[in-house]
Amino acid sequence: MFSNVHLLMIPTHHRLLSVLLTVVLQLEDIGLNGLGVATREVNCGIGVCYFPLDSCCTGFAATVINNQHACGPQPNYTTPYAPYDPTCSSTCCAETGIWSEWTKSPIQCRDYCGSCGNQTRTRTCLSEANGCPCQGESSITEPCGTGVCYFPRLSCCPGYSATVQNNQHVCGPLSAPVSDPDKLNTCGVDCCPSKGIWGEWVTTSACNDTCGSCGITTRSRKCLSLQYGCACTGNATESRPCASSVCLFPRASCCTGYKKTIDIVTKTFYCGPLPVDIFNPELTTCCDPENIGLWNSWGAWTACNVTCGGCGVQTRNRTCASEAYGCPCTEAKVETKTCGQASCGGSSPCCAGKFLATGYDGAQYCQDNTPEVCTGTWTEWTSALGATCNDTCGNCGIINRSRFCFPSGCQCSGSYTDQAPCANGVCLFPRASCCSPYKKKIDVPTKSFYCG
Ligand SMILES: *[C@@H]1O[C@H](CO)[C@@H](O)[C@H](O)[C@H]1NC(C)=O
Ligand SMILES: *[C@@H]1O[C@H](CO)[C@@H](O)[C@H](O)[C@H]1NC(C)=O
Ligand SMILES: *[C@@H]1O[C@H](CO)[C@@H](O)[C@H](O)[C@H]1NC(C)=O
Ligand SMILES: *[C@@H]1O[C@H](CO)[C@@H](O)[C@H](O)[C@H]1NC(C)=O
Ligand SMILES: *[C@@H]1O[C@H](CO)[C@@H](O)[C@H](O)[C@H]1NC(C)=O
Ligand SMILES: *[C@@H]1O[C@H](CO)[C@@H](O)[C@H](O)[C@H]1NC(C)=O
Ligand SMILES: *[C@@H]1O[C@H](CO)[C@@H](O)[C@H](O)[C@H]1NC(C)=O
Ligand SMILES: *[C@@H]1O[C@H](CO)[C@@H](O)[C@H](O)[C@H]1NC(C)=O
Repeated sequence: MFSNVHLLMIPTHHRLLSVLLTVVLQLEDIGLNGLGVATREVNCGIGVCYFPLDSCCTGFAATVINNQHACGPQPNYTTPYAPYDPTCSSTCCAETGIWSEWTKSPIQCRDYCGSCGNQTRTRTCLSEANGCPCQGESSITEPCGTGVCYFPRLSCCPGYSATVQNNQHVCGPLSAPVSDPDKLNTCGVDCCPSKGIWGEWVTTSACNDTCGSCGITTRSRKCLSLQYGCACTGNATESRPCASSVCLFPRASCCTGYKKTIDIVTKTFYCGPLPVDIFNPELTTCCDPENIGLWNSWGAWTACNVTCGGCGVQTRNRTCASEAYGCPCTEAKVETKTCGQASCGGSSPCCAGKFLATGYDGAQYCQDNTPEVCTGTWTEWTSALGATCNDTCGNCGIINRSRFCFPSGCQCSGSYTDQAPCANGVCLFPRASCCSPYKKKIDVPTKSFYCG
């Protein structure tokens, strides 16, 4: 749970610290009078502490007691006793453990688009040494450069096709991003804002009408604080009226339930009343020790400001969801990346500091490093995308074929495209059976003629 972003850190010093508090249990109180000792001192708060605290107090070590991570060894009570169940003793390890950030290798993807390259991401379990093992993969190999390629390149590497994922054009299918499961940590609810922290609304279906507040649009939002122990109250999806401009004749100005209303600020008419979002955040004092905060998702990338040469820039923004709750975010609000990697051709194909490389499909593009010198392997010839034979028989036709050189960025000798004869069925009179240099031949297994 407290893996990447740690908002709302538990008030550890109150509840989870495995201090040797002693509790005097009055057995009369729990109906065990006469069965054993009347009073006894037992250790409490035996649950393992969270990172970054030490797991256990001096004299105790993280161990497993009754299938729970606890600090032990604990005394063996041999007479009837009342087990002390400190609140949260079973849930004090973050269920996924605490992972480091992912690191990527190699640093640069082999190809910038088409999902042609692979990168391996690795991370380490930070909390294991403190008695909290991690769940999930520590290493993942996945395609990189997953954006679709633009003309003149093929959209996607063989095996991938252009699709939309998270509002981005990508070459997929891509496996779902590794995220830590949303699990409720029942510890630490003390410092949750009572409604939790919601992310921004995202429109999930567009308005189905054009005016009069007649249309309906739906939107959804994610409970960002859930995985850090704070459930949200309220609806995660919602439908609302949309297209509030006044309809023109012959339509009635506004749909049932709405009235033509003036907006004094903009001096325009609209069909109201419209629902208003009332945002009134409660402050929380429990921000994470690293102060990363809870970020909303990134917005869309801006268009690239160049078409070729490799020195274009695109940016995207994100906003901080937890700031209004008293937990400002750190790390970048704006992300930039280079774009426009296609070669400009001619005598200066790349901008200063970029190097010309050849992709798996023979297309040239500009990259940061000098191209790697490596020998690639050709795939089998296949008919080019959308290619058709320009004749019907006699091996007279011609079809375009192409082949690819992998790994992308390595070199193969020979041509990426060629033209092969096609339509090898025998032609009927008045055409000659076969075009030169092909001759009518018999295929023994199927007992049929062909031009070969
Ligand atoms: C605790 O005491 C019981 C009864 O004497 C004994 O059977 C058990 O092995 C002891 N457990 C440990 C962990 O010492
Ligand atoms: C990428 O990794 C997958 C799975 O490990 C493998 O099947 C594929 O061939 C790799 N692609 C490249 C271009 O290395
Ligand atoms: C828009 O969707 C709502 C809810 O599904 C429906 O009642 C309404 O008739 C739709 N309007 C149009 C113009 O399709
Ligand atoms: C949540 O959704 C339900 C069912 O759609 C609706 O009745 C309720 O009014 C919504 N609550 C809020 C706060 O919008
Ligand atoms: C593209 O944007 C970057 C960053 O703003 C700038 O440095 C570069 O000069 C721009 N290129 C062109 C061709 O406008
Ligand atoms: C990012 O935010 C800045 C400042 O708020 C704004 O000027 C810019 O247009 C935004 N860019 C995008 C891509 O939304
Ligand atoms: C098919 O294309 C080849 C090569 O361009 C050409 O020689 C031939 O005449 C074409 N056939 C037809 C039927 O157009
Ligand atoms: C075959 O490729 C050539 C050049 O590579 C192109 O000019 C021609 O239009 C292509 N023909 C078809 C049918 O795609």
